[in-house]
Amino acid sequence: MKIAVINFSGNVGKSTVAHHLLAPRLEGAEVISIESINSDGTETAALRGKEFDELQERMMSRTNVVVDVGASNVEDYIALMQRYEGSHEDFDRFVVPTVPALKQQLDTIATLNQLGELGIPSSKIRLLFNFVDSKANVTKVFARLFEQHRKTSAFVIDSSAVVYENPIYEKIKSVGKTIREVNDDPIDYVAWNAQALQDGSPEHERARIRQMVAIKRLASRVTREHDDAFRLLVH
Ligand SMILES: Nc1ncnc2c1ncn2[C@@H]1O[C@H](COP(=O)(O)OP(=O)(O)O)[C@@H](O)[C@H]1O
Ligand SMILES: [Mg+2]
Repeated sequence: MKIAVINFSGNVGKSTVAHHLLAPRLEGAEVISIESINSDGTETAALRGKEFDELQERMMSRTNVVVDVGASNVEDYIALMQRYEGSHEDFDRFVVPTVPALKQQLDTIATLNQLGELGIPSSKIRLLFNFVDSKANVTKVFARLFEQHRKTSAFVIDSSAVVYENPIYEKIKSVGKTIREVNDDPIDYVAWNAQALQDGSPEHERARIRQMVAIKRLASRVTREHDDAFRLLVH
């Protein structure tokens, strides 16, 4: 399965979804990130044909791939897919994460329109609602997108394809593992914390263990939520 995670908007959760929700559920999947921001903060030139060729090669040498198309590259990427006719056929799914803010919903509609114009079949384009408040009514919060779907039917929309807002995404950044890995991790951090207290371990070490207790407690529900969303996105 080859999946592109794409949206003209930044901060909708593309990288989060690629690393925590999609890649861990596809055997041996690699996440390929197309980001134009260098680590020194400067922007590189636009995504070029040469890089696109390299990407195509990397994709073709793998069975399972998740491509995270950074917001600053989406336009170039879509233009290149237009030039290399049929290249979008390499993907089985285009997952489009979106969030409640109006601007992001409008950007999402623009993204969906562009994908439709490339001739990508609607069944491959899957919307994913992110940053959802657990008490929110999805069809109300994302009313514009449901309306767009009624008009075009150019993508798949399902009010159950949801990622809830959760502090785990922030907390896990310093851990260097996926949520799924932490969830499957057999270490009993509560017991380890008790032991560390008894041993008089330094505070910074105990703080890390406490942090892992919190993350692991959050991880089990989030893992189930990701399992459910994944099923809806790939089936
Ligand atoms: N469901 C969520 N709940 C809470 N924070 C989230 C959620 N999804 C993403 N985030 C946070 O929002 C920020 C933007 O997410 P990111 O995946 O980097 O977006 P993008 O790749 O689209 O720019 C990150 O700090 C991430 O940890
Ligand atoms: Mg990103």
